[in-house]
Amino acid sequence: MAESRWYDKFAPFYDVGTFGDLFYRKPCKAAVEQLCLSFGSSVADVFCGTGVDFPMLATHTKVGEEGAVMAFDGSEGMLKHAKTRAERCTVSPSFEFLQADFSRSDGLKTLEDAIDKESPQHVFVSLGLTCLENWREFCSLVFDVCPSGTRFSIIDVYSDRLTLGARFINWVGAADCRRPVWSVLEERCESFAWQEFRPFKVLDVSVFVASGGKP
Ligand SMILES: C[S@@+](CC[C@H](N)C(=O)[O-])C[C@H]1O[C@@H](n2cnc3c(N)ncnc32)[C@H](O)[C@@H]1O
Repeated sequence: MAESRWYDKFAPFYDVGTFGDLFYRKPCKAAVEQLCLSFGSSVADVFCGTGVDFPMLATHTKVGEEGAVMAFDGSEGMLKHAKTRAERCTVSPSFEFLQADFSRSDGLKTLEDAIDKESPQHVFVSLGLTCLENWREFCSLVFDVCPSGTRFSIIDVYSDRLTLGARFINWVGAADCRRPVWSVLEERCESFAWQEFRPFKVLDVSVFVASGGKP
């Protein structure tokens, strides 16, 4: 997968290059709040990258030692950093890591089987859907396999125009930020909510948080 190879190369510099979660901290906090986590919750962190959101998922929301995080990503390099971060979490739920390429049918099957087996009650999809040409198929599959009552929260970038800033974000992220990747949640969730943030004013690209529950 081209994106994974790109992220494998990027992995050693990813956290420095993105200034940790500096630009995404506010929308990310909003996205995690929308998951309505509680002590002992189990959450799927899809496109976990280097695990930048683990501390927020593990401690801020009090999932705590009793909770579980299933961390998915396509890049071996990014997952290696995520595993190190999980070991350093002061409050550590049980972590499970899965490498799968969601642009391929075998990767989708791995994800489907893992979600079906573990039934996480919360699905956090962070900054990866815009990398996927098959984002609609991916979202429908995840939605279908999750049980009723599952909470979903997506954080990603969006621009309806291919501005210079959007081209830059697309290049850095191996993405296409014109994809309306929240649509499946909007069509199928109850209590769907959409919030816009503008951390990259100079680039003229939005960050959105979309969330809802499966009826
Ligand atoms: C922009 S990073 C976001 C990482 C993390 N969520 C964060 O907030 O820092 C995008 C992630 O999506 C993963 N990714 C991209 N395309 C993928 C695919 N086809 N299958 C699985 N993972 C993919 C990359 O490996 C990368 O870790």
